[in-house]
Amino acid sequence: MDKYIIEGGRRLCGEVEIQSAKNAVLPLLAAAVLTEGRVVIRSCPRISDVLNMVGILGELGCKTKFEEDALCIDGADAANHEIPAALAKELRSSVFLLGSVVSRFGKARIAYPGGCDIGLRPIDLHLNGLRRLGVRITESGGYIECSCERLRGAEVLLDFPSVGATENLLLAAAVAEGTTVIRNAAKEPEIVDLQNFINRMGGRISGAGSAVIVAEGVKTLHGVEYTPISDRIEAGTFLIACAMCGGSVALKNADAVNIASLVHKLREISCKIRSEDDKIYIECSGKRLSPKIVETSPYPGFPTDLQAQMTALACVCEGATVIVENLFETRFKHVPELIRMGADITVRGRSALVRGVPRLHGADVFASDLRGGAALTLAAISAEGLSSVTDLRFTDRGYSSFEYKLRALGARIRRVRV
Ligand code: UD1
Repeated sequence: MDKYIIEGGRRLCGEVEIQSAKNAVLPLLAAAVLTEGRVVIRSCPRISDVLNMVGILGELGCKTKFEEDALCIDGADAANHEIPAALAKELRSSVFLLGSVVSRFGKARIAYPGGCDIGLRPIDLHLNGLRRLGVRITESGGYIECSCERLRGAEVLLDFPSVGATENLLLAAAVAEGTTVIRNAAKEPEIVDLQNFINRMGGRISGAGSAVIVAEGVKTLHGVEYTPISDRIEAGTFLIACAMCGGSVALKNADAVNIASLVHKLREISCKIRSEDDKIYIECSGKRLSPKIVETSPYPGFPTDLQAQMTALACVCEGATVIVENLFETRFKHVPELIRMGADITVRGRSALVRGVPRLHGADVFASDLRGGAALTLAAISAEGLSSVTDLRFTDRGYSSFEYKLRALGARIRRVRV
């Protein structure tokens, strides 16, 4: 088990390069199963969620290898339709494979997916949508079994704009017979990226980024070389880090439009932010006003994946902030740990009232999910004194070279094995 040892209190200065988006790459890997052709994902981050998904592709019979930072997938010999429990439990995104595996092999068997412990995460929208496309689904003994002769296009109305369900349905619809219309679809930039990727493989999908997506099924998809969009959550994490520590940071390979909701909040609390080409520049000094209210909602609203980091920032802002988490039920597990560092936070249900304090102090804290782990790391690099953040298997799921990047900006952080 690894942990970070952090000596906090230094300003951040310099430039970091943002990785390709975890949440874009994972569905692209699922899409790779749809073709017998060769797929190359350029600038593929070696984070554990991606490596686990690559492991699952290997189980299905795909040949995978990294050539420098490009991931090459050759699915010509893929023949297995079963995703074993040990791998599925590590990774919630394994559920995306239902759509592509059943579409490729006519059947799929997958253990119920795992992922971060941030509350109940049902997959009813995925399953109901796939049923509409003609998939027969049975659930028994912790496994979901799917089968169908040929997927058929259909109208699907999602009760909620679920990111994963929208992606799963796109994957299934891409090679279904006829046209699929997904209404109340999620609008996240990663869905646009999946649409672009499938279209580059010969697919015919339009409307991603809006609430209605239309997929005209094609007979086959071919291989592709593709560079995924940059990771807006990693970019947001570094912006918040700079807001907490003070200093001046440039993010390379970052897109300010995709995190406009955060940029807006940071400007309100007196950070200076500008963007140019693929760079975002942030400068923060002096007092930070409180962001007053931060309420998570589906894109283009404030992302739930930046809620924990924003809660950490609110701890050191002047005045009180109300944080409302609308997407997941138990996404405040970082709060008791922030309180150990001197934060003043009260949680009631899905809301947290954060009263700003002048500074946090070092403490030994424990991460229990990916973004919570990032929030605690930011709290520690901005705090006065020494901290440890245990354990790093959560941040390793989503941040490549997190400590190297923070160190390059001047933070005193190192990874140790315990
Ligand atoms: C994706 C992201 C995750 C992010 C989340 C919300 C990936 C790999 N993960 O997760 O980082 O936090 O979007 O932006 O892209 N729901 C149901 N039934 C379903 C599916 C979802 O009730 O079948 C509910 C969930 O419990 C949750 C809400 O819908 O309350 C949002 O979930 P969803 O948009 O599906 O998130 P994920 O795709 O799991």
